[in-house]
Amino acid sequence: MADYLSVTDFSSEEMEELWSMTDRLKANPLNNLLNGKNVLLLFEKPSTRTRVSFEVGVNQLGGSPIYMDASTSQLSRGEPVEDTGRTLDRYVDMVVARVYKHEDLVKLALSMEKPVINALSDLEHPCQIMADLYTIREKLGGIKGKKITFIGDGSNNVCTSLILGSALAGASIVVASPPGYEPKKAVVGMASELSANSVKVTGDPVSAVSDADVIYTDVFTSMGQEKEREQRLATFLPKYQVNQQLMKAAPEGSLFMHCLPAHHGEEVTREVLYGSHSVVFDQAENRLHVQKAIMLKLFNRKV
Ligand code: CP
Ligand code: NVA
Repeated sequence: MADYLSVTDFSSEEMEELWSMTDRLKANPLNNLLNGKNVLLLFEKPSTRTRVSFEVGVNQLGGSPIYMDASTSQLSRGEPVEDTGRTLDRYVDMVVARVYKHEDLVKLALSMEKPVINALSDLEHPCQIMADLYTIREKLGGIKGKKITFIGDGSNNVCTSLILGSALAGASIVVASPPGYEPKKAVVGMASELSANSVKVTGDPVSAVSDADVIYTDVFTSMGQEKEREQRLATFLPKYQVNQQLMKAAPEGSLFMHCLPAHHGEEVTREVLYGSHSVVFDQAENRLHVQKAIMLKLFNRKV
């Protein structure tokens, strides 16, 4: 059965289909399409939004979510990922996994017949970006031709999925990052194959926001990189902070987006996070609606 490990696992047509399904699920949240299905959430890292939105989403579709903190499983005592996958395959109908190493997610998916969903890895955060592109479509009336600007760590999971997802959806993206934190060349290459000239990389946040429809940022230090925190703060601040001064250089109607959790006063100020451009809590809400559509699609169910 199909997995959802990368934002590129769905085609642009399938993305559109998912968002139309999401519109219908948002209007009518409850049904029984996952009746009898057990969905395991296997998490190696902390989570608020992803965990709760998946648990509520499975409940709203009539299924049963089961949460397992990986540190309380036999994985923490060295049981191989593949044996874990082979075992889980006998019990549950789907696994939603948040892992440190993307390669572990791939091993898990290869060892299982049942679908596996990436709930964040060091490489990608596809559920986040599928929901964020839906939010842009909802707020700006469409996504094709829109200009997205990402400010911050261009090499992280959220930015990687945003670059690839934007290319698939027909939007263009400018990434403003300090040297050493630019998007990986392979990611820019893959996005360019999906859509020519869809990605630009710059070291200048002010020019990057000047004609942006969306200004997106994420933490400077992702989960698993905590030891680099001081050095990252020194590299990113003050130039790569999204604050009111930077937002003044952006168009009036532009959206401010952040996957959350936000570190107030680091990558974003409270004024911007709670300001008139911000749609961060609508993004968080849409995680719930979009992920329900993703699960239904992997189970070949339609609404
Ligand atoms: N944005 C996001 O994935 O949030 P959580 O870490 O709280 O799940
Ligand atoms: N880049 C962040 C996203 C958190 C939702 C991290 O991986 O910690």
